[in-house]
Amino acid sequence: MRGNDSAIALDLAALRADTPGCESVIHFNNAGCGLLARPVLAAMREHLELESLIGGYEASAARAGQVRDFHAALAELINCRPENIAFAGSATHAYTKALSAIPFERGEVILTTRNDFVSNQIAFLALRKRFGVEVVHAPDHADGTGVDVAAMVELMRTRRPRLVAVTHVPTNSGLVQPIAEIGRHCRELGLLYLVDACQTIGQFEIDVEEIGCDLLSSTCRKYLRGPRGSGFLYVSDRVLRAGYEPLFIDMYGARWTEPGRYEPVDSAARFEEWEFPYATLLGCAAAARYALRVGMAEVERYSPALGADLRDRLAGLPGVRVLDRGPRLSAMVTFTLAGWEPEPFKAAMDLRGVNSALSFREFAQFDFRDKEVEWALRLSPHYYNTGEEVARVTAMVAELAR
Ligand SMILES: Cc1ncc(COP(=O)(O)O)c(C=O)c1O
Repeated sequence: MRGNDSAIALDLAALRADTPGCESVIHFNNAGCGLLARPVLAAMREHLELESLIGGYEASAARAGQVRDFHAALAELINCRPENIAFAGSATHAYTKALSAIPFERGEVILTTRNDFVSNQIAFLALRKRFGVEVVHAPDHADGTGVDVAAMVELMRTRRPRLVAVTHVPTNSGLVQPIAEIGRHCRELGLLYLVDACQTIGQFEIDVEEIGCDLLSSTCRKYLRGPRGSGFLYVSDRVLRAGYEPLFIDMYGARWTEPGRYEPVDSAARFEEWEFPYATLLGCAAAARYALRVGMAEVERYSPALGADLRDRLAGLPGVRVLDRGPRLSAMVTFTLAGWEPEPFKAAMDLRGVNSALSFREFAQFDFRDKEVEWALRLSPHYYNTGEEVARVTAMVAELAR
């Protein structure tokens, strides 16, 4: 990959021409929010204009076909039916809706990992506070390379958790957790399985059948390059058939059939609400179609490899401590630089036209404690970034290291 973008099948020049932000910044913050591509921007602009011209309700009716494509495009991306997809305002919105559908009882166990996303961990603790569930963390491998699946399976057998909850790609490092392997055990043991795929969608190919998950949540704004304020929940047929429904289902997710009765709808629309941000929805559909056109197999080859190149180069610099460990790593690179405090370091990167993000101990209580760090700078390139940008960013960090 080093400086040799021509070796890959992606048309980088075209992808960058489609991405206006590439002209003004080195955007290495795709794990925060990806840069919008032109077709995504156009879909949203056109819809807002239509709303202003003919009215909001009328505009969504006029665009009903494209609106439906939100579900179809995401379904194609993760290999399910459109009826298994529910729009959500964020990954957290999708995730907490899913949690709210599980009628937890006192003493029941949520089995999770030490690298699950901070807001998920807080949600589990809130469930513990309100319903008395027990939160159990499967141990990691001793070398810090992610969850020990054998130990997790032992906990599945002995504790019979009400829910197994795993984040595929945690926000706080380059780790990639073995979600399909865990899913096979959940299926064998008949355990409910919820996957947080927030950093996955648009970065890795995803097949919900292969993962064997019951529920999967994501944002659309990160590697998928959709607009802010969007996400989705995958709800399997198993879960729909079993009658799970979110607490606080509305008139879109259910029919009020008699004064004292309601019936949830058959599809994942059960997890949606009547009101949608239609321009956003259309932007997400355009982003999913764009990712499908670019080709997720190519993206999965390119983005983590570009991250690996950056990681290798940074690791060779004096004062840099790279924090990512694991047999398979994502495009997310986390590191510290000796002699620098987090905010000034990020500000120095900003000043040089490089977008990055900071992670703190508060986001990763287990991981950062194990690594004995209080913070890390995260750089997260994507498929429209280049080897040349990686070299420039490495040179900037080298300059700051001096
Ligand atoms: C792994 C993971 N899960 C969930 C979230 C939350 O996403 P949202 O901000 O869309 O709720 C994030 C955000 O960074 C994340 O990295």
